[in-house]
Amino acid sequence: MSDKRFLVWDLPTRLFHWLLVLCVTGSVISGLIGGNLIDWHGCLGLAIVALVTFRLAWGLIGSTYARFAQFFPTPARLRNYLAGRWQGAGHNPLGAFSVFGLLALLLFQAGSGLFANDDIAFTGYLYDLVGKELSDRLTGWHKLSANVLFALVSLHVGAIVFYAHVKKDNLVKPMLTGWQDGEGVSARGGGVARFIAAALFAAAVAFGASGAWMPPPPPPPPAAETPAW
Ligand code: HEM
Ligand code: HEM
Repeated sequence: MSDKRFLVWDLPTRLFHWLLVLCVTGSVISGLIGGNLIDWHGCLGLAIVALVTFRLAWGLIGSTYARFAQFFPTPARLRNYLAGRWQGAGHNPLGAFSVFGLLALLLFQAGSGLFANDDIAFTGYLYDLVGKELSDRLTGWHKLSANVLFALVSLHVGAIVFYAHVKKDNLVKPMLTGWQDGEGVSARGGGVARFIAAALFAAAVAFGASGAWMPPPPPPPPAAETPAW
């Protein structure tokens, strides 16, 4: 084994990934159980909005291998990869499809949830913007796309297991420690100031998604007074 190693995943990318795994797992479980857990479901969904927004910003201003431009699957990169000529580090061009697919699907899943309702007492934080009819349609899409999410996550984890057992390439260790074995140039950039900027942007979007800025619903009309006889 080589004693050389280089930094591939910066701390924010790793934190993003493992927090995302926790929140998506919790969100799926609470969504399927429903009932009293639906409030938790909404909160976890909101956390996912913040995480994915953070990752989108970090893809523009983060460190080398976290940047979208670094792993965007252009036709030339894909051809090289499929011909066995790809020698880069970080997400390979095929894996990049799964990364973009997962991020887009999570945005849709959380976005549709914000307008959804459970037909009992819970409504997504932005429900008032769309009303019952459109909310019902979005709830249907929300439930449908949860199945697509199950498929994509299974494919994602399946690919990681395939790389570990068949290609003898452990991708999980770098996602835990940040370091990849072998020759390579360590990630640069994405310092504290940029992290704070991306985190503030994520917090602002999550605030928008929480509906906390909307005027409170009008108070219910006063109960009719009981006649005194
Ligand atoms: C809810 C389940 C999961 C979701 C939604 C998810 C999502 C993602 C996303 C969005 C990325 C891209 C990371 C980035 O560039 O920011 C990624 C990468 C990665 N994930 Fe997951 N993940 C899940 C579960 C797992 C699990 C259980 C494992 C470990 C067995 C895992 C291992 C990895 C690894 C190793 C990478 C880096 C792949 C590479 O080197 O190209 N993920 N995941
Ligand atoms: C990425 C984040 C999310 C995931 C993975 C997710 C997943 C799920 C799943 C698996 C279900 C159950 C589907 C079924 O019964 O077939 C569900 C239902 C639901 N989700 Fe989400 N959800 C997310 C975000 C949200 C958000 C942010 C909200 C609202 C703020 C929300 C509101 C709802 C509602 C109202 C239901 C319907 C519950 C019912 O009819 O019993 N979801 N979601």
